Amino acid sequence: LTRRKLLGTAGATGLVLGAAGGVVGYTAQPSRATPLTSVGAGQVMFHGKHQPGITEGLQARGHLVAFDLAAGAGRREAAALLRRWSQTARRLMAGEAAPHDDTDVARDAGPSSLTVTFGFGHSFFGRTGLEKQRPVALDPLPDFSSDHLDKKRSDGDLWVQIGANDALVAFHALRALQKDAGDAARLRWQMNGFNRSPGATSHPMTARNLMGQLDGTRNPKPREADFDQRVFVSESGTPSWMANGSYAVVRRIRMLLDDWEKLSVAAQESVIGRRKSDGAALSGGTETTEMDLEKTDAKGNLVVPINAHARITRPDQNGGAAMLRRPFSYHDGFDQDGVPDAGLLFVCWQADPLRGFVPVQRKLDRGDALSQYIRHEASGLFAVPGGAAEGEYVGQRLLE
Ligand code: HEM
Repeated sequence: LTRRKLLGTAGATGLVLGAAGGVVGYTAQPSRATPLTSVGAGQVMFHGKHQPGITEGLQARGHLVAFDLAAGAGRREAAALLRRWSQTARRLMAGEAAPHDDTDVARDAGPSSLTVTFGFGHSFFGRTGLEKQRPVALDPLPDFSSDHLDKKRSDGDLWVQIGANDALVAFHALRALQKDAGDAARLRWQMNGFNRSPGATSHPMTARNLMGQLDGTRNPKPREADFDQRVFVSESGTPSWMANGSYAVVRRIRMLLDDWEKLSVAAQESVIGRRKSDGAALSGGTETTEMDLEKTDAKGNLVVPINAHARITRPDQNGGAAMLRRPFSYHDGFDQDGVPDAGLLFVCWQADPLRGFVPVQRKLDRGDALSQYIRHEASGLFAVPGGAAEGEYVGQRLLE
């Protein structure tokens, strides 16, 4: 029996909203047994055109993990691993037990909008003899002058993103996938993150980050005509195994919170160009009011400063470059001197990093008001293939 059948996981019906107001998933059918709350019952489909974990709303808990193939493991072992991983992900996302030796950590809970997303790093293709299939878009990111990157916590052959609205469900998935790796791949780095829990605010809102700002306001929205074109490789895109896939840029960005928190709220708002309380642009209105880039105050100064983060990251200031930001916050304790090791596990999704992250980060590197309060400490770029069809595993079109 599956965990779902054993426990009668279904609860309320209808859409479950994530912290950012995005649709997290659909709940299961009405249940005959004790219903779970809507948080536990949230379920995202594993099979589909795109992989899960890209357009769903932010989840309360996340693990980002990179693996390197073991010495001697090549294409065959990688294909078998992706097949095992896909099977486990499909089952756990449906609220079922792991295929082998389930640890019971997620027992009693529903899938809690669990998503598992798989990607390939630049080094994967050399290790598996698939260089000819390596997308040009995976060329290493350029160096940025503000980078303080720890190579040990950067890159990797394989990348797994796990997200769920329950910490135990997320950990359960992490452990199952790590065990599936077996002798084929070894953990390279792991980062743990979090977001607001669904239901923590009186109504669904854009989430706040650890600097206290509403973060995600101007993200591309699935209802917008150019959303797919910005975020996903097209059906006819190259290489063909990346059809309906996307590229994820991952940056561990430490926030220098001691410095940031010394600023007045007004100074913090000038750094971003938006109000802290409600996320409205400093030119006025509400969170969704269009920013007036030309507006000046009585002294003739721009009300949204020329180097404000939310001004200079706009697509219309970067030749149309856009990305879907879907981050987790992190807090890994304190350094010896009491400085918090906390910030943003910045994950952004785009059809082509050269039309998304790269030009915007270049611009930020040249003079963003936010730069002196943050530090990029690790980096990764991964090719995330399209979703697996029924009976298929993720990456099959590359590996078969
Ligand atoms: C917008 C915070 C790093 C790209 C924003 C906003 C905030 C923010 C508060 C305004 C609200 C919104 O539209 O979401 C931060 C923080 C960062 C960070 C705290 C680091 C810790 C980055 C990086 C990039 C980036 C590294 C890309 C290279 C953007 C983009 C927008 C934005 C594209 C929206 C611009 C628009 O379409 O109007 N960010 N950000 N951010 N940020 Fe960042």
